[in-house]
Amino acid sequence: MKILGIESSCDECSAAVVEDGRRIHSNVILSQIDFHKPYYGVVPEIASRKHIEWIGAVVQEALAKAATTMADIEAIAVTYRPGLIGSLLVGLSFAKGLSWGLGKPLVGVDHILAHLYAPHLERDIAYPYLGLLVSGGHTIIAVVERHDRIQVLGTTIDDAVGEAFDKVAKFYDIGFPGGVAIDKLSASGDALAYRFPRSSLHKGDARYDVSYSGLKTAVIHQSDSFWNGKAEKSIANIAASFQKAAIDTLVDRTLAAAADNGLRRIVAGGGVAANSYLRARMASEKEVEVIFPSLRLCTDNAAMVAGWGYRAYLEGNVADFSLNAEARVPMFKRTYP
Ligand code: KG4
Ligand code: ZN
Repeated sequence: MKILGIESSCDECSAAVVEDGRRIHSNVILSQIDFHKPYYGVVPEIASRKHIEWIGAVVQEALAKAATTMADIEAIAVTYRPGLIGSLLVGLSFAKGLSWGLGKPLVGVDHILAHLYAPHLERDIAYPYLGLLVSGGHTIIAVVERHDRIQVLGTTIDDAVGEAFDKVAKFYDIGFPGGVAIDKLSASGDALAYRFPRSSLHKGDARYDVSYSGLKTAVIHQSDSFWNGKAEKSIANIAASFQKAAIDTLVDRTLAAAADNGLRRIVAGGGVAANSYLRARMASEKEVEVIFPSLRLCTDNAAMVAGWGYRAYLEGNVADFSLNAEARVPMFKRTYP
């Protein structure tokens, strides 16, 4: 059974054809990076306008690469939340049009759950497990019970980890997207040159939460105060020390959450799951089995949307035309009074 997936929640315009929730026949990802680069961040209006220009061609290419036509597609799965509202509306409206015109069922997909599904496209993974979802908009540590049911244990209380990478990279003019640029530059840096602060929120319900605004401020405005007094003061050393601080915090919380909940399997997803230091650190943890998606399935893509959509469709989880886009999902972000 082939599902067409459509993803337009941020700055990747993507469509994919996936069979039986597993076999990726095509996964076309058209990135808008060049259009947002001059601003060192995703500009929502530019993102929506590029999606509306590209979406038709991207879907056509996904069908062509899969050597298939809409006649062979069982259902259309589309990301409807969370994300940039204007961007989401383009993919959702396009999917609704296809669904209406061709009489194909429509499946609404949550982008966060789709990220967590990504590694399932590549291997069999039994539930439950501890999920670590790290992206430009979210940082979530959760017990994943099923494809559609997660218990959030911890989130960021301010910036998402990817956002911190992006902001540090912007300040030091390291490159865009910031995560990739810092990851690369860190390879030539000394991660112990600066001892940046780690957030510690080890209290009650907040014990698995993370915070990145303090680290970001320290790296941007007070780096000298955290210098070890020996290593060279260089951007590469700042990048490597920042990366270590940002990722070590995540790893600590994730391992603690897994142990406290009796889970020995950890599955990561989202753009920051592409980070080489995170992957190396997790690989060195011998007490747990850690699964990462391949790099192409970490960042935004429609294959994960089609894969998740297949699971939902099998269970009769089909949307009607009142399905609307949602910028935020309260459960995925901690709000403090
Ligand atoms: O999942 P994603 O493509 O989009 C969102 O749903 O947000 O994640 C994008 C984020 C960006 O903040 C980007 O800087 C970060 O993932 N990222 C990385 C790496 N590759 C992408 N962060 C750290 N290391 C990387 N290698
Ligand atoms: Zn994403």
